[in-house]
Amino acid sequence: MTHLLLGQTLTLPSDPFQTGPESAHHERRGAVAIAQGKITAVGPADDIRAAHPDAPVTDYGTGLIVPGFIDAHVHYPQTAIIASWGKRLIDWLNTYTFPEESRFADAAYASDVAGRYMDLALAHGTTTMCSYATIHPTSVDAFFAAAQSRGLRALAGKTCMDRNAPDTLRDTAQSAYDDSKSLLTNWHNQDRLSYVITPRFSPTSTPDQLSALGALWAEHPDCLMQTHLSEQVDEIAWVQELFPTARDYLDTYESHGLLGTGGVYGHAIHLTDREIARLAEVDAAMVHCPTSNTFIGSGLFNMAHAQTHRVGLATDTGGGSNFSMLRTMAAAYEVAQLRGQALHPAHLMWLATGGSARALRLEDKIGTLAPGYEADLVVLDLASTPAIAQATTRAEDIWQALFPTIMMGDDRAVTATYINGHLHTAA
Ligand code: GUN
Ligand code: ZN
Repeated sequence: MTHLLLGQTLTLPSDPFQTGPESAHHERRGAVAIAQGKITAVGPADDIRAAHPDAPVTDYGTGLIVPGFIDAHVHYPQTAIIASWGKRLIDWLNTYTFPEESRFADAAYASDVAGRYMDLALAHGTTTMCSYATIHPTSVDAFFAAAQSRGLRALAGKTCMDRNAPDTLRDTAQSAYDDSKSLLTNWHNQDRLSYVITPRFSPTSTPDQLSALGALWAEHPDCLMQTHLSEQVDEIAWVQELFPTARDYLDTYESHGLLGTGGVYGHAIHLTDREIARLAEVDAAMVHCPTSNTFIGSGLFNMAHAQTHRVGLATDTGGGSNFSMLRTMAAAYEVAQLRGQALHPAHLMWLATGGSARALRLEDKIGTLAPGYEADLVVLDLASTPAIAQATTRAEDIWQALFPTIMMGDDRAVTATYINGHLHTAA
């Protein structure tokens, strides 16, 4: 049965980094038709209603209907330690992250946090997330069970670490391979779920573990592989010590079978020319995590990569300081400003939807408001607070009307969230 949503609609049919913001299409009085979880039509409300005279209608008035946000890099187990004060990467991992991740040995705790994380993400309009779990296989089960019960398209993998982590958080090369393989077998392509092979980063994996996961990826090339790359300068120096013969950070992955199409590299800030070229050659993805990069003091991502690479946007919860992809877009804007790169609102919306979908190789399924795509949608209130409302009073086009919500909006701007065509109601 077809159902119509009425409101303003904003469509980015192509990548505005390639085709310019003009390629976006705005309908002031638009409609989206949904049937069996898919978008079947998008256009002027009058036309869509005439084509579906008997379809039930939900009218969101001036609410803006856009694709659900896609968070391309999060650590759901860090939900409870978000916004922890005063550390830089390695120190932050040791002080806050590892003790918290150790608690995920308890399956009940993992399932409690997975549910809490999912509900927070959905309240902020995020309908797909690609998460690191902890080293515990049950933490992956908890994530996927929480996503499955909510009908989400979601991705995750067991974080693998066999050195430079506490005893309670270490696996081995063999157990990382075995556990990842069995989780992959159990969860990959179940409903809307995808398993992602997940070595945390080179400092916490021995060369043997990296090779074992490289072998697993070679056996399952349809899976994504996610890890961290060149986030902080100190981290890069550490990688150089640990892998003295590597040409650069990326080479520690490349030489162990962990560079390829379907590779998703978080942060990717301090890259050499060789690394940038290799990532482009293999068509791998970079994920920009701007609230994390300013919060942990990592550096300024170069948005020029979006012209040449698949670039996604992410909160990096809990290194990132916010669950909101709106706040994350605002931080991306600010980081780009500091590099003299002014991002148009169309670029920001693209990064959080189609761009992240491309980074996760889901660009034929989600992230675009067009027929055939899965109906994961959010409806944004562009006047969700008095401060935002007064900032839009003289807006002359959709971009001026939307930008204050990008810069100042949060979960209060999310009027409704649809998952696979169904209205999500808070738990
Ligand atoms: N590098 C390795 N692990 C992590 C993590 O959990 N968060 C961030 N921001 N960087 C990392
Ligand atoms: Zn991360």
